[in-house]
Amino acid sequence: MKDIHNCSLLPYNTFGIDVCADRFIEYSSEKELLKVIPLIAGQRYLHIGGGSNLLFTNHFHGVILHSAIKGIETVDDTPVYRYIRVGAAEVWDDVVAFSVEQGYSGLENLSLIPGEVGASAVQNIGAYGVEVKDVIDKVEAIDLQTGDKRVFDVEECCYGYRQSIFKQELRDKYAVTYVTYRLDKAFTPHLDYGNIRRELADVAEVTPAVVRNAIIRIRQSKLPDPKVHGNAGSFFKNPVVGRDVFGHIFSEYPSMPYYEVDGGVKIPAGWLIEQCGWKGKTMGRAGVNPLQALVLVNLGGASGQEVLQLCDTICEDVYQKFGIRISPEVNII
Ligand code: EPU
Repeated sequence: MKDIHNCSLLPYNTFGIDVCADRFIEYSSEKELLKVIPLIAGQRYLHIGGGSNLLFTNHFHGVILHSAIKGIETVDDTPVYRYIRVGAAEVWDDVVAFSVEQGYSGLENLSLIPGEVGASAVQNIGAYGVEVKDVIDKVEAIDLQTGDKRVFDVEECCYGYRQSIFKQELRDKYAVTYVTYRLDKAFTPHLDYGNIRRELADVAEVTPAVVRNAIIRIRQSKLPDPKVHGNAGSFFKNPVVGRDVFGHIFSEYPSMPYYEVDGGVKIPAGWLIEQCGWKGKTMGRAGVNPLQALVLVNLGGASGQEVLQLCDTICEDVYQKFGIRISPEVNII
């Protein structure tokens, strides 16, 4: 177990925000996690994963928890599926690479999403027409008050767009320790999102590996590398608006991209932000990615407050221009 007082969080957040935590505890097994529970009783705590969806706006006065539970094991193998149980601290993209190398499908559209397995199940990560809920079989988690273990079937996780029970009524109550994914032995390509088909136009045979490489190329062409400019991927969620609001805006902006979803119409926040003139603009040491306006970047040494100020200004501008309230996807701490 790692237990560090006054720990720098710089290596633990991809935004590259230089803050400290009063205490940082990393456990490498469920047994070790049970020993951690009395240490956080009555304390403020935050469980992090790869730190790729976080914005620290201040030093963290409390305990940061991090899992180091690793491992990928096959737990069931049927003619149709292979089920793998993965430790929460495995890097998500390593799991995608493993699945593709073994010739299975289902995860390839989620290639190169930063972060760790535990957070993938909390956040319901998604990209290019697939969400991780589509491939999750079950989630194992430990109650951070009682130490009791609970196994959640995928239905019990109440997944929605970047939503789960772990972000709602069970927020901060459980630590995810293992996730079991259902890998498909047959390949059903999901190619309808954006420009995937265009990217694959010259390819004779589409395989999970070919799709993975295409997704990697698309992502790298517009999403900044956090090692160069700190960022947390999409900073905002794409808002869903009622059909009346949509109709009103669409009549003025007929080239606006949109997706019909349950309960309304989803409008890309990146498009709204670009229309407000923010794409590629900077404010202090924080900026808007010039290639994908949904991503805010740390231009070097930005404080969390600077990024938050940029976020608030953008939200207000979008509201003034379109009457739509966009909200951060990133957890602001
Ligand atoms: N768009 C613009 N200007 C921009 C950005 C986007 O006009 O600056 C337009 C694009 O032209 C396109 C539409 O908005 O018509 C959608 O853009 P894109 O395909 O890049 O996807 P997104 O909706 O902006 C979402 C996810 C991403 C995920 C992509 C691909 C959210 C919050 N973000 O972005 O997820 O990679 O779709 O599936 O849902 C992340 O969560 O960190 C993330 C990167």
